[in-house]
Amino acid sequence: MSSIKSLKAIKGVGPATAQKLVEAGITTVEAVAITPVKTLAEILGCSEEKASQIAQAARELLGLSFMTAEEFYERRRRIGLISTGCKALDDLLGGGVETQAITEFVGEFGTGKTQLCHQLSVMVQLPKEKGGLDGRAIYIDTEGTFRPERIVQIAQYRGLDPKEALKNIIYARAYNSDHQVALVEEATKIIEEKNVKLLIIDSLISHFRAEYPGRETLAVRQQKINQHIHQLLRLADIYNIAVVVTNQVMAQPDVFFGNPTKPVGGNIVAHGCTYRIWLRKGKDNKRIAKIFDSPKHPESEAVFAITDEGIVDIR
Ligand code: GTP
Ligand code: MG
Repeated sequence: MSSIKSLKAIKGVGPATAQKLVEAGITTVEAVAITPVKTLAEILGCSEEKASQIAQAARELLGLSFMTAEEFYERRRRIGLISTGCKALDDLLGGGVETQAITEFVGEFGTGKTQLCHQLSVMVQLPKEKGGLDGRAIYIDTEGTFRPERIVQIAQYRGLDPKEALKNIIYARAYNSDHQVALVEEATKIIEEKNVKLLIIDSLISHFRAEYPGRETLAVRQQKINQHIHQLLRLADIYNIAVVVTNQVMAQPDVFFGNPTKPVGGNIVAHGCTYRIWLRKGKDNKRIAKIFDSPKHPESEAVFAITDEGIVDIR
C-alpha cells in the first residue's frame, strides 16, 4: 500500500495532509502516532489541537490507546527474546534480550559493550529455534567502532553466511546528537519494511555529553536525552523490537568504599531503560555481567568470555 493511501486511513487526514506528512518523511501510521504533537502541527501548519486529534486517531487505528488487560496480556505474550549466544548471560537475562524493552549495557572501556552489540546484531538473524528472531538489525554507531570483519567472524561461528549476515545489518554512523535522533526517526520508516527486530545504539549518550558539557547545559542535555529515550521506548513498544544501548561509566571520586564508578546519564537513563546490565572485567578475556535495578531478575552474576567466536560461555 502506498504511504499516502495508508495515511489516509487516519481519521482527519485527507490527500493534502497525507502529502505533507509524506514530504516530511512521516510515511506510516505508526510514525504519525509517535511524532510529538508540536512537530506534527509544524509540519501540517495547523493548530496543536488539530495535530493532537490526528495523532490520537492514528493511535486508535493502531490500537494504542486504552486496552483491556487481556489485550495487554496478548501484547506481552508477543515479547520476543534474542539469545546473546552465551547460556550464562541468557539465564541472567531470563532467556535473552527482550523486545518491547530497552536493554542497557554499562561498563568501563574494554568490558565488551561493543562486542555484545556486534554479537546481538548477528544473533537476531538466527531462526527462533536457534535463539534469534529471524530479523534484521539497525546499528547506530556513535563512536566509529563497528567492525564488519567482526560480524563475519561471529556469523561464521553461528553457521550463517557472512555475506548475508552483513546484508542484514543496516548501519549508520551518527556524527552528533541531532543526527542520532534523526537516524532513529529515519529508522521508523524501515523497521517494518525490512523486518528489523533489533535497534542498537552504541553508545547512547556520548554525543550528548560532549555537546552539552558543564553544569549550565545539564538541564538541556537531560531533557534531550529524556526525549530520545522515550522515542526509543515507543519504537520498542509499537514495533515489538528490542532496543539495545550501551553506556559508559563515570568515576565518583568521593566514593571510597564500594563501586567507585556509576553509569553516566543519571536518573533519566536509569528510569528510561527497562533493563540495565553492568559489565566488568575479570581475568584474561573473561567478563562479569550483573543486572541491577531490576524488579524481576535475581541479583546474580554471569561470567562470559570474549573470543574470536564472539561472546561465549566459559569453557
Ligand atoms: P569502550 O567502547 O571503549 O567503552 O569499550 P567496550 O565496552 O565497547 O569494549 P569492547 O566491546 O570494544 O571490548 C573490547 C574487548 O573485546 C577487547 O579488549 C578484546 O579483548 C575483545 N575483542 C574485540 N575484538 C576481538 C576479536 O576480534 N577477537 C577476540 N578474541 N577478542 C576481541
Ligand atoms: Mg565500545
